[in-house]
Amino acid sequence: MSALLSVKDLRIDFVDRGRVTNTPVRGIDLEVGHGEIIGVVGESGCGKTLTGLAVLGLLPGGATATGSVLLDGGDQLAPNAANRRGEDVSIVFQNPGTAFNPVFTIGAQLRNVVRRHRDFTKREEDAHILNYLTLVQLPDPARAAASYPHELSGGMLQRAMIAMALLCEPKLLILDEPTTALDVTVAKQILELVLDLQRQFGFSVLLITHNLGIVHDICDRVAVLYAGRVIELGETAEVLKSPKHPYTQGLLDALPGNRDPNMPLAAIRGTVPSNLLGITGCAFADRCPLVIDECRRIDPALLESTNGHADACIRTVRA
Ligand SMILES: Nc1ncnc2c1ncn2[C@@H]1O[C@H](COP(=O)(O)OP(=O)(O)O)[C@@H](O)[C@H]1O
Ligand SMILES: [Mg+2]
Repeated sequence: MSALLSVKDLRIDFVDRGRVTNTPVRGIDLEVGHGEIIGVVGESGCGKTLTGLAVLGLLPGGATATGSVLLDGGDQLAPNAANRRGEDVSIVFQNPGTAFNPVFTIGAQLRNVVRRHRDFTKREEDAHILNYLTLVQLPDPARAAASYPHELSGGMLQRAMIAMALLCEPKLLILDEPTTALDVTVAKQILELVLDLQRQFGFSVLLITHNLGIVHDICDRVAVLYAGRVIELGETAEVLKSPKHPYTQGLLDALPGNRDPNMPLAAIRGTVPSNLLGITGCAFADRCPLVIDECRRIDPALLESTNGHADACIRTVRA
């Protein structure tokens, strides 16, 4: 069966007065199967959100994309891609406190979405909204609908946001750092809810996160992003057990449970380059503990080593 989402050689340029000022996404290839939960992981600035926005068909001003993003056969880079938003794909952002408009009730904002996509009577709209607020396990769905955003906790708002994203039964749900703004126990409940809803409805999930722990808990496969490219891809269990790329290894070492308690907190030295124009060779070379001269010259391609497990390090030994 063909993939639900197929991203091929996606590049995103920022252009100012005819000049390319940055290329934060530099050729991403990614497929998401029907009903699959895929994690897109990487440090801040790696191009995760831009990739998610391209899949949504909603790039920020000044950005242009090339390559192809096909969602269920539809071209998400085409000018009319916005028409499918909500129906085929929707997104939940990091901060539920700012994602809702503070001056309208939750119910009014959900109703707006339903009206854009469905020709329901007012009574049907009400029932539909209540049904989704119930599905996301809000303790008092009617009260939540009548509430203004500031009257709900962060966790409740994120539940309402998930309800809003699912109102029109999307085939793909993008979650962009959905629990980063929440405390640990609430975050766990939200992820359990996502898993639960995914099992019920069978939609695919593209989960953007900087946290490999979350990937471990809920993702079937994981794509590790660095400097606008996928540098490692595979089944979650396999990638976490035998990471091939030194960047993935570094992310894993930075997880609290994997640290030697006697060592200072492991972090990958240096930072993600803020501008990727004119990069030659491997973008991770300057931070890599295993760098060799060739790394600065050879542009590493994402190559498979074992079934489905691919990485973009020239030092990886392949059969
Ligand atoms: N609106 C924008 N204008 C200019 N540059 C941007 C914009 N949004 C993102 N970028 C650039 O793209 C890079 C990647 O952004 P983003 O996809 O938001 O990263 P992530 O979600 O992985 O933290 C940023 O570091 C920044 O350099
Ligand atoms: Mg982001």
